[in-house]
Amino acid sequence: DSRSDGSVCPGSLIVVSNRQPYRHEYDSEAEDSGGGDRSTDTSSITVDEPTGGLTAGLDPVVQASEGTWIAWGDGEADFDVADDDGCIGVPPGDESYTLQRIDLSEEAVDSYYYGFSNRVLWPLCHGFVDLVENRSNDFEWYRTVNERFADAVAEHAEPDSVVWVQDYHFGLAPRMIRESVPRSTTVAQFWHIPWPTPASFQHCPGGRAILEGLLGNDLLGFHIDRYVERFLDCVERYLPGADVDRTQRTVAYGGGTTRIVATPMGVDAPTHDENARAVDSDQLSSLFDRYDISRENVIGLGVDRLDYSKGIPERLAAIERLLERNPGWHGEFTFLQTATPSRTDIDAYQRHGDLVRSEVTRINRRFGTDDWEPIVYTEDYLSNEELSGLYRRADLMVVSPLVDGMNLVAQEYVAASVDGDGVLVLSEGTGAHDRLGSHALTIDPTDVDGFASQLEAAVTMAPREGQHRMNTLRNRVFDGDLEWWMETQFDWIRRVHADKRRDGGN
Ligand code: G6P
Repeated sequence: DSRSDGSVCPGSLIVVSNRQPYRHEYDSEAEDSGGGDRSTDTSSITVDEPTGGLTAGLDPVVQASEGTWIAWGDGEADFDVADDDGCIGVPPGDESYTLQRIDLSEEAVDSYYYGFSNRVLWPLCHGFVDLVENRSNDFEWYRTVNERFADAVAEHAEPDSVVWVQDYHFGLAPRMIRESVPRSTTVAQFWHIPWPTPASFQHCPGGRAILEGLLGNDLLGFHIDRYVERFLDCVERYLPGADVDRTQRTVAYGGGTTRIVATPMGVDAPTHDENARAVDSDQLSSLFDRYDISRENVIGLGVDRLDYSKGIPERLAAIERLLERNPGWHGEFTFLQTATPSRTDIDAYQRHGDLVRSEVTRINRRFGTDDWEPIVYTEDYLSNEELSGLYRRADLMVVSPLVDGMNLVAQEYVAASVDGDGVLVLSEGTGAHDRLGSHALTIDPTDVDGFASQLEAAVTMAPREGQHRMNTLRNRVFDGDLEWWMETQFDWIRRVHADKRRDGGN
């Protein structure tokens, strides 16, 4: 497994991300808790270990390189178990790298995380310019927090280190890092959300500083070509003095050169496949009982963070249209929507949550009967096992964001569809659509009638066609899985790292 042989990263790896891979928590029920929790020496503190996604994929790479991971420490107990600098060896019991937690005051979190990151960059990059709230001080706090992370990197960086920054919480840090680490240290970043058009980007407060910040990287990754092109458009338009090479996809600015690449992120497909095969039918039955879903029904599934970019109201409207048009399906079709509340300090998220809940209630009142509810909506936490079971069982999965950088849920569903059936209905606004689109049923989430027709097509699809589509989707998802993505990123990192040495970066 190339992920754990240590040669994957050319030097010691320093990861910077907002969310941390291990989180410590006080837990009065520590003794009885099972699952991913493992008790530490302090019996009332448990630690959550990475169970999926990028964090779980990166963790073994940082372990193999005996590197460092720098992240916001947001758990109550996080600093009680760490040293004065916020550092702790992880994984617990088998310490192979340092997790350095950055302690942020409430005001810092409010301005950097709930403010500039999620009231400005998130809506702006997703094209929701109307939702951008530019509050005074948020950008300054964002800068201050980026500086704190950059200072922490500088403490750990060595000449052959590779610094890999994750996502939009750190638009300024790369240049700060560049200026404080040895020239031969490689600085890379992956921007996990879309990059906006110049027309949207012009509304970005501190936009020029963000571009300059990102061009402190030697390597900058996006999911798809479209975001790379738009980033280059923005640099050409808004950063005088930058030299953009469209063919090579490089930008020379401020004495350095940044290479911009498109590498669509995948999911840990083999693990999702394995978990789906291991699904326990009793557990799935009890989940159906819990939500009062008839086992015989056609099941549609939606799994999302409760975010206005995910197109949940549009999805509900399409389901409503489907029910209007197909009275014969009443009682026989159930749509299960699981939503994870997110960033709830922000008004736009609260308003959106209220809208989703009231639409569910309205549609259920309109069509529901004593023993059937068309939409089962829950904000409950579902375990990975329960999710795998639902993915495998669902007859159709609806992924309808208006805009989404990639969308991993669509790929998880495909990886877990081990019986080769199940239909993916996928929005053309997702990065995932660039790769999977032609084999999924494509929708424009804002076209209610077209969306409803695709739902009908999914429900009535001939098994042979469904299996053919799913097999093709599975090949794509397995070929471009998380391991492939990491290898591709590290191939680029190695290349940039080698170029720097050749050019006398040492
Ligand atoms: C998106 C972002 C991630 C983020 C996740 C959850 O996928 O790209 O960086 O971690 O949303 O959001 P949260 O604000 O809870 O970290």
